[in-house]
Amino acid sequence: MSISSVRLHRLLLVASLLVPAIVFVAAAAWNRFEVLRENDETISRTAAILHEHAHKVFDTVDLVIGRVEDRTHGLSWDEIAAPETSAFLQRIKAPLEQVVSIWITDATGHVRAGSQPWNPAVTIDEREWFQAQRERDVGTYISAQFQGRATRAASFAVSRRRSSPDRHFDGIIHVALSPEYFSRFFQEAVPPGPSAAALIREDGAILARSPAQVTYTRLGPDNILMRSIATQPDGGVVFGVSSTDQRERHYAYRRVGAYPIYVAFGIDADVVLGRWYRNLQLYGAVALLSALTLLLVSWLALQRAKAEQEALVRLRHESEQRLAAEQRLLQAQKMESIGQLTGGIAHDFNNLLAVILGNLELLRKRIGDDDRAKRLLEGAFQGAQRGAALTQRLLAFSRRQDLTPRAVDVPQLVSSMTDLLIRSLGPSVQIVTRFPTGLPPVKVDPNQLEMALLNLAVNARDAMPTSGTITISAHTEEVTVGNEHSVSPGSYVCVSVSDTGMGMDAATLARAIEPFFTTKGVGKGTGLGLSMIHGLAVQSGGTLKLKSEVGKGTTAEIWLPRSAAIAAATASDEKTRPEHRTCTVLLVEDDPLVMTGTAAMLEDLDHRVVEASSGKEALRLLRENASIDLVVTDHAMPGITGLELAEQIRAEWPDMPILLASGHAELPERSGLAVPRLTKPFRQNELESAIAALVTPACEPVNVVPFRRS
Ligand SMILES: Nc1ncnc2c1ncn2[C@@H]1O[C@H](COP(=O)(O)OP(=O)(O)OP(=O)(O)O)[C@@H](O)[C@H]1O
Ligand SMILES: [Mg+2]
Repeated sequence: MSISSVRLHRLLLVASLLVPAIVFVAAAAWNRFEVLRENDETISRTAAILHEHAHKVFDTVDLVIGRVEDRTHGLSWDEIAAPETSAFLQRIKAPLEQVVSIWITDATGHVRAGSQPWNPAVTIDEREWFQAQRERDVGTYISAQFQGRATRAASFAVSRRRSSPDRHFDGIIHVALSPEYFSRFFQEAVPPGPSAAALIREDGAILARSPAQVTYTRLGPDNILMRSIATQPDGGVVFGVSSTDQRERHYAYRRVGAYPIYVAFGIDADVVLGRWYRNLQLYGAVALLSALTLLLVSWLALQRAKAEQEALVRLRHESEQRLAAEQRLLQAQKMESIGQLTGGIAHDFNNLLAVILGNLELLRKRIGDDDRAKRLLEGAFQGAQRGAALTQRLLAFSRRQDLTPRAVDVPQLVSSMTDLLIRSLGPSVQIVTRFPTGLPPVKVDPNQLEMALLNLAVNARDAMPTSGTITISAHTEEVTVGNEHSVSPGSYVCVSVSDTGMGMDAATLARAIEPFFTTKGVGKGTGLGLSMIHGLAVQSGGTLKLKSEVGKGTTAEIWLPRSAAIAAATASDEKTRPEHRTCTVLLVEDDPLVMTGTAAMLEDLDHRVVEASSGKEALRLLRENASIDLVVTDHAMPGITGLELAEQIRAEWPDMPILLASGHAELPERSGLAVPRLTKPFRQNELESAIAALVTPACEPVNVVPFRRS
């Protein structure tokens, strides 16, 4: 299951709406076409029925006129006017429902014989069909609708001209037909529902219609039916608005045989569309139902895909976290072993350097005024001191540094460093500090924190060769159980140094904290800066975090635990020159070389030295020798360690001043005993000051803090 799968399910969701919608539209279009086609068939079929009927009616009328012609052929007008003729006409008319009346009229328009009684004084010479026949022989002529005078009924006439033997006009024979009869038939023959049927003369005159109309307009040449007749005279199908009742209809029409007459039948568009709409409702319901079903299925599938994707993301995140934790562990193990190795070596070197420095110091006093020898000695001194500084750094990153943590106010510490920073960084960089008010103090060795900040600032400057800004700031962090910061839960202060420099790529960032990793070239960087800071932070109960982006800059954060105590002023105490005094010092040291060097320094300071090569021997000597004023002991010794020895002395001689000289901080965290310490390698004046802090000039213990409970 991937992200694209969720996208696919979303597409399905859209498709489940879209596809039924498209199918619905297609089905609707197809059904409209079908409904219209079926309607065309229906109206054409009905028009055919109407046509058959009208054809028969007109053929019958033709036959009737033919029979009247036969009967009156060769008769004089007087003979025609005899009652027998009218009786004959009555007989023919009687069975024909469609016929209103039958008449024979002379050339003046006076009726001479008829199927109905009539007024002999009345002439029909003004009637349209009479005038048409009088003008010339037009064959069978069908008139428009008129009101019969004798019959008082609406009619239209089918007439034929009578000619004298010399081919002159000699009156007409005409049959009056009943429009109502046609209307009735139309009503019966057409399918139910709103529709219209009509009998129309070629020129647009409406002869009969259903539904019947009080008055009939003649269809103009613009009428949709007339226009179609003009182009398709035999018959056809057409859609348009009726000029009789202004309704939209689908029409079919046909010409009645050879007569200049048409039958037309039309169904209201509403009816046709109504049928279509009903179908649409059905289709719509089906489409809606299937869309809803598909939608539900797709939605369920999408939910499932989303859940799976979330699970996948969680899984990926967890495995990334596990991988990162594994890498951190691996890195920690690596650092640990490098630390142990380096720490061990550094410790031994420290002892050697202590011896060298001690002996050089003594030598300096004995060398006299030989300037050349003095210079050589100074060179040896500086070399040994640099070596000592290096071993300090090594001890720092391997977390075996001798730390004196106390509550430190970070803003105050940074402000006391201002001069140092400005001097060390040069004019090209700008230093900005940003501290929140009320920042709690941290628990750290202030000197080491100062060193660490200076190191970070130097790194920042190196990353900004031309110019830039270094921001030193701090904020608090609360860490809970199970955090990803690899520190114990508690309150922390993060002191950060950010720069606007070149930043680090991922590979450099991953290795930056490693000891001896540097990109600065041989002789330019030791690669111990960050590893020292890391060592300090971890040893102080915190951590070091680096964030960097190539081209944007780097931020280094030193996380330090918040201190419950109130911060002491950072201003370093004025060191008073110790007064000179002579004491009996019990020197405990397992390394004979260091023993000799330290003893020489003590003797040079006019102290008497009693030597012990182990803790056990020291206790024995203390018991035997009551004149001992002070114990100076190494910490890392086989058998009893310096600290254990101090505890035992504390128990037996509570007032005995003890000085613990140690190269690395292997003292257990919670020993409950705070012993004044001297970091190896130490110089003679450091040893002198440390002793002065512990005893009075009379070699009495100073009551200040020979032993402290932490
Ligand atoms: N602020 C920074 N910007 C860019 N790169 C940095 C920064 N700080 C450290 N680095 C990179 O990390 C490497 C290791 O830094 P570290 O301070 O441990 O050693 P160094 O600075 O090279 O040597 P030294 O501290 O002894 O002068 C540097 O060489 C540099 O590549
Ligand atoms: Mg550095």
